[in-house]
Amino acid sequence: MIADVVLGLQHGDEGKGKITHHLCKTGGYTHVVRFNGGCNAGHTIYHKGKKFVTHHIPAGVFFGIKSIIGPGCVINPTQFFKERQELIDGGIDVDGLLYIADNTHVITDKHLEEDGKDTKIGTTKRGNGPAYRDKYDRNGFLARDISDLRPYLVDLYDELHNSDEFVQVLFEGAQGFGLDIDWGDYPFVTSSHCTVGSAVLNGVPPRAIRDVWGVAKIYETYVGAKSFQPKVPIFDKIRKAGEEFGATTGRARQCNWLDWKTLEKSIKINGVNKLIFNKVDVLEEVGAWSLKNGSKQEIFENGKGMQDWILRNLGKKNYLGMDVYFSGDKNGI
Ligand code: IMP
Ligand code: MG
Repeated sequence: MIADVVLGLQHGDEGKGKITHHLCKTGGYTHVVRFNGGCNAGHTIYHKGKKFVTHHIPAGVFFGIKSIIGPGCVINPTQFFKERQELIDGGIDVDGLLYIADNTHVITDKHLEEDGKDTKIGTTKRGNGPAYRDKYDRNGFLARDISDLRPYLVDLYDELHNSDEFVQVLFEGAQGFGLDIDWGDYPFVTSSHCTVGSAVLNGVPPRAIRDVWGVAKIYETYVGAKSFQPKVPIFDKIRKAGEEFGATTGRARQCNWLDWKTLEKSIKINGVNKLIFNKVDVLEEVGAWSLKNGSKQEIFENGKGMQDWILRNLGKKNYLGMDVYFSGDKNGI
């Protein structure tokens, strides 16, 4: 078995969907597995000129690859069926491709109601926190308890380990390092693990992991209750140019400069060997380039200056073996 992982290095919305989409097109995978989160995530995917926003469903379905919602996720059956229908209506043939690990936990109406009352964290109100709490409290429902889901259930162990074919999996993460329950800015985090360890929890042996694709933006955004955006007009410009509004809730994302020290931390903890910086064209559009390096604010004259600084600083820390990509197209690779 070979596994590659795509994960977020910031606070979600880094453009993981775009990278996953690209890898599905080129990577020769037999399976795509979503490894964490629920329908709090919103992956915006441009496929054959059409825009799709998926919350639960992994990107493999767009390319005829078997796509599985893994047991590290929580699933809302109503949302699952709605999304499946939207894909079918959009011309995507999901027949025989879409599955849920039978040991995935379920988001219930009670979870939705409870999360709907949140004001402290600024959650997406999709029931995630209460569903994971009940899972760990051993009070949850599993996908295999829900009769409507039965046609879509798989045993992920059999899928990954008892297959006749050589298994090549792409693990698709949701949210990002800054929202990770252990490594993020607690309590302003999500209720699942967003790091590479989380992929491993979905039944893949660590040694099967080949590439870890870490996805960042050239600036940062965050959605939630804490204050994140400095009161400087440039960030409103970035938000506008980058169309930084939530794919799930439509909320305006708070913007800030790239936080270099935290990015380094997330690169190291995740063992990233393929690093992507998305949306470099947004800073080109607003004509400002900067990043926070601890207490120091680095300011650059142009995009090239910023990219050179990044490459130089990755090099200094012995990351020269890592592939680094700067991607400019807002809507597709
Ligand atoms: P929850 O995951 O809905 O409980 O929300 C917890 C925090 O994570 C809030 O700040 C949400 O805005 C944030 N969050 C959850 N999912 C996403 C995402 O896909 N993109 C960006 N922020 C997210
Ligand atoms: Mg998103």
